Amino acid sequence: MNRTLRYRITGALILSLALAGCGGGGGGGGGPSTPPTTPPGQDPPPSIPRLPDPSTAPPLKEVFPDLRIGAAIEPEQLEDPRDRALLLKHYNSVTPENAMKADTIAPADISVEPPNFERADAIVEFARANDMRVHGHTLVWHTTTPKWFWNRPPGMSDADYRATVEQRLRDYVRTVVSYFRGRVEAWDVVNEVASDNPGEVYRKSQWFQAFSIGGGEGQEYIRIAFEEARAADPEARLFINDYGTENPEKLAKIRQIIDYIEATRKDLVDGVGHQFHLQRTSRPEDVDAALATVASWNKANRVTELDVSIYDDPGDCFVQQRIPPCRANYGPDLASVPQSVVSAHARLYRELFEVFRAHSLAQALEAVTTWGMHDAHTWLNSWPVARTNHPLLFDRDRNPKLTFWAVADSDFAIP
Ligand code: XIL
Repeated sequence: MNRTLRYRITGALILSLALAGCGGGGGGGGGPSTPPTTPPGQDPPPSIPRLPDPSTAPPLKEVFPDLRIGAAIEPEQLEDPRDRALLLKHYNSVTPENAMKADTIAPADISVEPPNFERADAIVEFARANDMRVHGHTLVWHTTTPKWFWNRPPGMSDADYRATVEQRLRDYVRTVVSYFRGRVEAWDVVNEVASDNPGEVYRKSQWFQAFSIGGGEGQEYIRIAFEEARAADPEARLFINDYGTENPEKLAKIRQIIDYIEATRKDLVDGVGHQFHLQRTSRPEDVDAALATVASWNKANRVTELDVSIYDDPGDCFVQQRIPPCRANYGPDLASVPQSVVSAHARLYRELFEVFRAHSLAQALEAVTTWGMHDAHTWLNSWPVARTNHPLLFDRDRNPKLTFWAVADSDFAIP
């Protein structure tokens, strides 16, 4: 299903589909959950193997000493003792999950109201105090650009409008990157600017459209964002971040975009951020190939948003209300998820981290960040549909899952 379309699914629609189509919610929001049923002839009754005592879990950051190990977090999680402990034990990098998005920092025009860095600062100061890096996410993303960027006074000419939007972009990027200079070591300068349409390189977002006005180059906003970020903090590592980069056609578009950004200045893009929001059907060899391809361009790789959904489908069976074979909702108890699914999840993560380790040893991968730390706090409990997911390494009680042990201990037998 087209990703842009998926982003447009509103909460109300999701809820009504959840209720109508696939047997209830039970997602992260804490609604009523329907016990999963096992259709005849499908998975055997669930059983979870005995896992080692959680206190014996090695810190992930020590298991992968050649990688930065990151997690996306919200500032509130720093107030939760269990989340704090998990973060401090296993991770040495943080990405603000939402706190640095433009609609949080600048809900109103920054030439009128000062930006609000409070939420982002909570994370940045925690990181500094605990010797962790901050990966900044994200300066320009079409889904979180506040409306004031597009304000157009009546009667303004096309040329003046384009110039006004450009000035807002320059001011915003410069203000934010300067504010965090020396405290945020890397930025996802632009997020999801490549198109998913065959043969189309650039997403036709509102950014692209605003810059196209009057016959301009729609993609110029991308280069401008990189120029301003570089000027504001020459030491920060600058990334172009996107999903689906494990798909060679999508990655080829990223290459074209980098070539465009760097047509006249070769030093603007340090690397590619691979979101890697994966499915159980994703192939480690595709991930391996994507990392190798970017390394062959002499650009850095970071895995910026890793998670692996336990569901086979990206939500389309849910949205289309195709019930069988759609597994609607396994519920929040990991013991309700069929063992075959739990084991496949663990195996895939193990193979992925083997790929990551190999690239880190070849200096071709700098960091791996998971999009969340544990299954109680993951966007996949509410996106693309409200269903309970189990996509991460730690369970809802913050304990290491089979998937953690598969990653952390290569001898651990996966049932
Ligand atoms: C998601 C957050 O996790 C959610 O809390 C928020 O409601 C929407 O954004 N790709 C990205 C991230 O680059 O910023 C998104 O984060 C997940 C997809």
